[in-house]
Amino acid sequence: MSIGWFPGHMASARKKAAETLAKVDIVVEVVDARLPGASSNPMIDSLRRHRQRPCLKVLNKADLADPQATAAWMRALVDSAAKGDKVRAVALTCRKASDVARIPRLALELAPHRDNPLKPLRVMVMGIPNVGKSTLINALAKRKVANVGDEPAITKSQQRIDVNDQFVLFDTPGLLWPRIEHPSDGLMLAASHAVGVNAYIDEEVANFLGEALAGRYPALLSARYRFDPSGMDGPDLIDAIAKRRGFVLKGGIPDREKAAITLLNDYRSGALGRISLETPASRAAMLAEPATVPVPPGDEAAEA
Ligand code: G4P
Repeated sequence: MSIGWFPGHMASARKKAAETLAKVDIVVEVVDARLPGASSNPMIDSLRRHRQRPCLKVLNKADLADPQATAAWMRALVDSAAKGDKVRAVALTCRKASDVARIPRLALELAPHRDNPLKPLRVMVMGIPNVGKSTLINALAKRKVANVGDEPAITKSQQRIDVNDQFVLFDTPGLLWPRIEHPSDGLMLAASHAVGVNAYIDEEVANFLGEALAGRYPALLSARYRFDPSGMDGPDLIDAIAKRRGFVLKGGIPDREKAAITLLNDYRSGALGRISLETPASRAAMLAEPATVPVPPGDEAAEA
């Protein structure tokens, strides 16, 4: 499948992010709790390791994710911190003020020397588009300083926000990385709306999502659409939704596009229930397979 993956403005945003990183104490990386592996940008990880900056990983939108999968992710991240990785993690909902109020203290634990007005804690908020960075920043600042929107890549330039005399935030545009190695990552990100609608084909993404949900969450599908999805693959499921909802084109052909958009919207809004698209185990299994997308000539330079 082809995703228009790395728009030009992201290359310059990456350069700017690398410069800002030199001036901050820690990175708060916001990821989507429904896909914490796929929504974690490897480029952010390598930039912050290069500068030796610790990271607080915020598994946001935990209200939409499967609580069991989120608990498994938190255990996996605690294990990796125990092995010396300077990463801490928290799963929460940036739409809840009480959740967001936990972040400054967790961030300070990673840079305890930055605890006074002479040395305010400088935090860079990073993440791919649409994971909730602006929502988090507005909640921390307690005012609207960043645009929130479900269309990816709303924030296009960086800004500094002095939350108080001990806490400074740097907002960065959503960053994707130049080359996606595993197509399922691209499909999970498209399903979760991290890439713009013009970059993918709804039906293709919905086929992937439908198949994953029929395998892992059949009860949620049958509660929503009132049919038994057992044994269905993605295209079967889309057809069944079209039939059930009466989405029909001229000549009695199922309107698969309308059904695909319905499934995507129901997943994105949480109408289907709490769903996670990956667990630490499914991610490890996927990563053990060889990458299926070859490196195009010249792409190495884009990553340098
Ligand atoms: P970004 O800066 O990383 O690109 O993301 P942004 O904050 O703009 O958030 C993208 C969408 O995700 C927004 O949806 C926002 O409300 C939603 N969102 C952020 N955090 C959470 C969360 O913890 N839980 C849930 N369920 N949604 C969250 P939107 O449809 O544009 O939102 P709205 O402003 O219409 O509510």
